Amino acid sequence: MIQLTKLKKLENNFPVLTGDKALSKKLCDQLIKEIQDMNSFDDTIMGGRSRINKGSKNFNKYLKKSNVSQKIFRHFNSKIFYKKIEKIFSQRFKKSSWSNVFVPEIFNEKKFTPKNKVTSSELQKILGNSYKNPKVNLDIDFSVSKSGYQLRPHRDDITRLFNFLIYLNDIPKKNGGSLTLYKKKGIKDLRKSFRRFPNIKELDVIKEFTPKKGTIIFFQSTPNSYHGVRKFKEFRNEKRYFIYGSYALNKPVIWSFKGNKYYPKISDNNKKMLSSFHDSNYLIK
Ligand SMILES: [Fe+2]
Repeated sequence: MIQLTKLKKLENNFPVLTGDKALSKKLCDQLIKEIQDMNSFDDTIMGGRSRINKGSKNFNKYLKKSNVSQKIFRHFNSKIFYKKIEKIFSQRFKKSSWSNVFVPEIFNEKKFTPKNKVTSSELQKILGNSYKNPKVNLDIDFSVSKSGYQLRPHRDDITRLFNFLIYLNDIPKKNGGSLTLYKKKGIKDLRKSFRRFPNIKELDVIKEFTPKKGTIIFFQSTPNSYHGVRKFKEFRNEKRYFIYGSYALNKPVIWSFKGNKYYPKISDNNKKMLSSFHDSNYLIK
């Protein structure tokens, strides 16, 4: 169903693998149709991205009536597939200096990251202070974006190990919506801290991916895995259809880089927000 054999490695300061035509045109078109036929979404975020999120009632309803989405979901939501991804990354990035200190043994098919809004202290309580013996699960959403969707440079949640995106339609370059990968300016790679939301002025663009039908992009969610999405404008009323997924732990990931360990620190905030909106820094210990 997903072609992983021809994944290309991207020379970068964090591990990225990309695959063109990983999903056939036919499957992509079927997936678009299924998303279009679903007229109820769980939320709309980031200036126009509507999502159907794993874990919601709506998601289960969607899967029941969407054969191809269900197949994709089952394929990704399995220990076998997760192990494949883990293995491909360790084989293809043998010299990569980034690794997660506590390796999950248990894959929990039922678990998902809750999408309710919490304060930073509530989030801290949910995630806890212990890092050992983590379990891993898939988070996934089926998404469609309209004009106005954009995403400032950031790193994903502190629980994430690997993230992936599957693009279901071609977006002309002039219409924006490209996935942009960044690196911190300068040549220093060992740093005391990695902020979750660095200022765009501190970053250099490494690579831009214009969404192409059937392309999959995997990246390791290391503290420096800065990425964002350029403002999207619809082309002939065609929206941007994609799948976002992630393999996430049930507790924060501790990252190791050249023998140094990085621990996350969630910034205090009394505002109730999605975990993906909370600020956090990775600090060297
Ligand atoms: Fe992200």
